[in-house]
Amino acid sequence: MDPDFWHGKWRDNQIAFHEPQVNGLLRDVLDRLALESGARVFLPLCGKTLDIGYLCARGLEVVGAELSETAVAQLFKDLDLVPEILTVGAMRLFRAGPVSVFVGDFFALDRDSLGPVDAVYDRAALVALPPDMRARYAEHLVAVTSSAQQTLISLEYDQSTMNGPPFSVPEAEVRTLYGDRYRVTLFDTRPISGALASRCSGSEVAWLLARDPSAASESSA
Ligand SMILES: C[S@@+](CC[C@H](N)C(=O)[O-])C[C@H]1O[C@@H](n2cnc3c(N)ncnc32)[C@H](O)[C@@H]1O
Repeated sequence: MDPDFWHGKWRDNQIAFHEPQVNGLLRDVLDRLALESGARVFLPLCGKTLDIGYLCARGLEVVGAELSETAVAQLFKDLDLVPEILTVGAMRLFRAGPVSVFVGDFFALDRDSLGPVDAVYDRAALVALPPDMRARYAEHLVAVTSSAQQTLISLEYDQSTMNGPPFSVPEAEVRTLYGDRYRVTLFDTRPISGALASRCSGSEVAWLLARDPSAASESSA
């Protein structure tokens, strides 16, 4: 999508994608992943999700990337944190306590600026992007995180009933995007709920993408 589309959403507070509670699948996912305390979790296209505070409460460090400074300012306010603001490469970095968020275009984020990542948590990031952007997104995400394991919360519904975003990204596409790099496992699925349930019916699907040792070598970013 055009950056102006998202800046407009944040300016006009049209953020139905923002869940008013921690994502219902996240707790079980974290129990399964059993990440070490202090592990660094990357949230691409993070918005101001409440999942960030929950990840911190579980003893994890969070690093995000988000286009909208409005969203990031609200995130830190909601977390009751005052960030220091740095310039890192093409991005601005807002940082306080266990939370760091790069503000700018995710595609301008490079691996050195991002630093090491132990796990990726993608909720409403891949599905926010139209079909012609998703392969580039997936490739860049794999490159900047050095193929870190991922949890991907996707959506499956009849795309003919509604225009995205959010878009339906069914299993076949998840496997096309990531199957050459990861072992792709279905973790859990549940009916679409919340604000989106009034627009379409379908499933929210959690995928675990485990690093595949036999996969092709890492690409660079
Ligand atoms: C559907 S929202 C999801 C936000 C968050 N993941 C959540 O669960 O609430 C998609 C977010 O991606 C951001 N975004 C869109 N394109 C982006 C880009 N190229 N780089 C960084 N952020 C982007 C938007 O501003 C928006 O906040």
